[in-house]
Amino acid sequence: MVLIDKRKEKIAKLIKVEGFSFQEIYDLISIPQDSARGDYALPCFKFAKTLRKSPVQIAEMLKEELKEIKDFDNIEAVSGYLNFTLKSEEVIKEIVENVVKDGSDFGNSDIGKDKTVCIDYSSINIAKPFHMGHLSTTAIGAALYRMYKKMGFTPIGINHLGDWGTQFGKLIVAYKKWSNQLDGEVTVHGLNSLYVKFHDEADKDPSLEDEARAWFKKIEDGNDEALKLYNFFKEVTLREVKKVYERLNVKFDSWDGEAFYNDKMGAIIDRLEELNLIELSDGAKVVNLAKYEVDPENSTTPPCLLVKADGATLYATRDLAAAFYRKKTYDFYKSLYVVAYQQNLHFSQVFKVIELMGEPWYKDLEHVAFGMVSLESGALSTRKGNVVLLEDVLNKAVEKSLDIITQKNPNLENKEDVAEKIGVGAVIYSALSTARIKDTVFSYDKVLSFEGETGPYLQYSNARCLSVLRRAKIECTNQEAIKKAFLNLTSKEIEGISDTYSKELVMLIDRLPFVVFEALEKYEPYLLSKYLIDVAKAFNKFYMENRILNAEEIYIRPRLALVYATHIVLEEGLKLLGIGAPQEM
Ligand code: ARG
Repeated sequence: MVLIDKRKEKIAKLIKVEGFSFQEIYDLISIPQDSARGDYALPCFKFAKTLRKSPVQIAEMLKEELKEIKDFDNIEAVSGYLNFTLKSEEVIKEIVENVVKDGSDFGNSDIGKDKTVCIDYSSINIAKPFHMGHLSTTAIGAALYRMYKKMGFTPIGINHLGDWGTQFGKLIVAYKKWSNQLDGEVTVHGLNSLYVKFHDEADKDPSLEDEARAWFKKIEDGNDEALKLYNFFKEVTLREVKKVYERLNVKFDSWDGEAFYNDKMGAIIDRLEELNLIELSDGAKVVNLAKYEVDPENSTTPPCLLVKADGATLYATRDLAAAFYRKKTYDFYKSLYVVAYQQNLHFSQVFKVIELMGEPWYKDLEHVAFGMVSLESGALSTRKGNVVLLEDVLNKAVEKSLDIITQKNPNLENKEDVAEKIGVGAVIYSALSTARIKDTVFSYDKVLSFEGETGPYLQYSNARCLSVLRRAKIECTNQEAIKKAFLNLTSKEIEGISDTYSKELVMLIDRLPFVVFEALEKYEPYLLSKYLIDVAKAFNKFYMENRILNAEEIYIRPRLALVYATHIVLEEGLKLLGIGAPQEM
């Protein structure tokens, strides 16, 4: 599947090289880093062997063949490349007017029509704090979700809650014994401290472990009291996390967690037995994977443990059942798991078992792994149970943002709202600004800088666009007014946005849908982040180099149109990343 670039397609169709298909030629054509080398370039190196000529000769030859074609401002053969410069006036007009016509729908595609993509992300654990370690999965998953939507897919956001396991037996014991020591309303923090206390006490008195097992058994058997407490823990947790999700503007279509699969694992184990894939190992049921190398970091693959000797199922058993359930329920095109790389082995084991079961869709399962975030001050969790809460990080970022804008723009209205957007946006951006797999260090000063490659820089650039448009009395949210104001630009007007800075910006604006598409192909939202930084930088250059409101009369309209188009790309891009765009800051 590729998102077709019409301009590139047109070029690819013109070029005929023996032994190479249209598609191969299309794929070879790229956009030169340096715009002085043209808008598109075809490297001729791949053709050398077949044509038995040097790339330099081939480029020259192809140029000669195209000499009758009048659709370009220039075609040049330069050291083995064939560089195409599109008809500047035409292409600038087309791109700017496209954005003007489409508004925030600019770049939408239906390439994903009728394709469902399951995205398992955030997937928090009940009665455990929503800590900084969940930032990446939440931000990456939600960004992918929105980008899939823009490309016409049907994404299904799944919060695979960690809501099952013997820890809930322990928590009941602790809650019954010590909840009177908690003050005020029961919070996740309170629950977590009870859980920590359980372990401290159980070190001294091992009989607590037996009690915990008995209570967990009661949850499994549906005992009233046990279920009531279990559900209460779930409620307390969800109430708190939903507040954070609201701030992050993150939503889910399904909250089916591990417990949901309790009655769905039996059938899978039966299938595995029928297929002779189950081996007994000290009474436990496992799938032996020793023959397969599933994870580069583990030369011998440990067996996938599915049922313990005492009959208990495991994390992997639930994921196996969940994968089948999702296939059956959503008939997905892809099913993604946005989970830290620490779980590489787990997912490769689960995927391998599904492959061994003969399910062809194992290929559509994708572990979208990411690296660790640490704070400048050190690790995220220091002592037992002492972690950095995501909410605290958001609060601190918002507080600092408020200080910054109060200094920069003391008369700004709704400072609190704006600070919330900047602070939260900065934290989200930080999780989306590097290739997923990298470990990163979080620094408040870095992520909040208005000048670096940050969320606030993007927001600031967008606000700058809006302020220009406001001064020109352009109503950005009225699509009809926008079209009336900016369509039908004349040649003379286009001249006003034909300088290198303007053209650079225009050509970048055109890339939005392709960048989103590529980011999805690679499950890398940071490609969009990086692109938006390029747009903002190009805009700021354009803005420095060109007068707008006090330009020569005929140049005002096209320049405002370009400012509007920039605003649309920045705002839409921020929205896709999950970052708010303040009107002023
Ligand atoms: N709750 C798990 C954790 O915090 C993540 C679950 C990821 N999703 C899954 N289907 N295993 O580690």
